[in-house]
Amino acid sequence: MEKKTEIPKILVIHGPNLNMLGKREPELYGDLTLEKINRNLKKHGKSLGLSVETFQSNHEGIIVEQIQEAEGTCQGLIINPAAYTHTSIAIRDALLLLDIPIVEVHLSNIYKREPFRQESLVADVVTGQISGLGAEGYRLALEAIAAIIN
Ligand code: DQA
Repeated sequence: MEKKTEIPKILVIHGPNLNMLGKREPELYGDLTLEKINRNLKKHGKSLGLSVETFQSNHEGIIVEQIQEAEGTCQGLIINPAAYTHTSIAIRDALLLLDIPIVEVHLSNIYKREPFRQESLVADVVTGQISGLGAEGYRLALEAIAAIIN
């Protein structure tokens, strides 16, 4: 009998203010809403044989808890920590708990922006980073995780 294989679960975490995409500085972040980005990711995940779950919070501790829950339940993580990228040791420490591929995504190129945005406190604890490719960055991150885990 053929063994039933579990579909790998990929969690996508969006940090503060990303719920306002579409309205929020579209010249920097594009005009797609978060809902649309998530819908596209779930669809693309399906075509790659992945189950995509999405999550957004404006609260640091809630994001930390979500990362902790990914331990043992998810096979990959995509995270745009938004402003917490530049401030959160707590999110960095939570990411260090995970032993799965993690891709940090930024819609804008943080290295072309204000000096305070040019430092990411998570960049050296993730598998890789995509910055400046808009919503396309999430799609590429999903493809990278699919390639890594297959
Ligand atoms: C961002 C860049 C951050 O500096 C900013 O605070 C965000 C979004 C990006 O996707 O380009 O909220 O992470």
